[in-house]
Amino acid sequence: MSRRPLIAGNWKMNLLGEGASTLATAVAAAASKANADVAIAPPAIWLERCLDAAGEGPLQVWGQNVGPALSGAYTGEISVEMLADVKAAGTLLGHSERRHVFGETNEGIAAKAKLVAESGLGVMLCVGETLDDRKQGRTMDVVIEQLVTGLEAVPAAQLTVAYEPVWAIGTGETASPEQAQEVHAAIRAWLAERYDRETAAALRILYGGSVKPANAAEILAKPDVDGVLVGGASLKADDFRAIIEAAG
Ligand code: PGA
Repeated sequence: MSRRPLIAGNWKMNLLGEGASTLATAVAAAASKANADVAIAPPAIWLERCLDAAGEGPLQVWGQNVGPALSGAYTGEISVEMLADVKAAGTLLGHSERRHVFGETNEGIAAKAKLVAESGLGVMLCVGETLDDRKQGRTMDVVIEQLVTGLEAVPAAQLTVAYEPVWAIGTGETASPEQAQEVHAAIRAWLAERYDRETAAALRILYGGSVKPANAAEILAKPDVDGVLVGGASLKADDFRAIIEAAG
């Protein structure tokens, strides 16, 4: 089963309006020539600028997170209905910064995943272990628990999984291609049990954590790595373009 790679950029809380438009325009141009699907997840306030830059082209624009309900008294949050209204493709959920900086739990993430699944948008569920988990041999227990809870209500057709070891995010420390492959293969085996073998073979599992032009090709070459979720290096058009090109 050959899976078309997905190269996704998570802009986190970076860029002002003009910079967002300029970068989205450059990425949209790269996406239209790419042999991969390309997505960006800008700060919510720049979603519409980025969607304008994407136009009718293939660049997908995703949210970084959603609030815990469709509407209501949730100051500071945006809802999945708002994402759908501006025509975002989906949203990241459970990014390690949401889990570790903002204290999101597996259960809270699962409730959001259900809302997003019901809205018909894409769910990119981010999972990954801390350095402590890895040292204590708990990597797969942690990752599987995040998957079991997070995907309870998510149909495979709307799902992308992103494996991002917490110790590799923004640290310059990348998991080796072998470490990534080992976890990706175990995630795919779990997905085959959760859905079925054929479905698991078609699902994309992205790797994230200090992906750069210099290491993208060797990570993407691993059989169960179907793309990358890029933070820092997605903020520079040339770097992100080089990563897109590394996908083929
Ligand atoms: P990084 O971030 O590429 O800057 O390590 C990845 C992510 O958090 O998605």
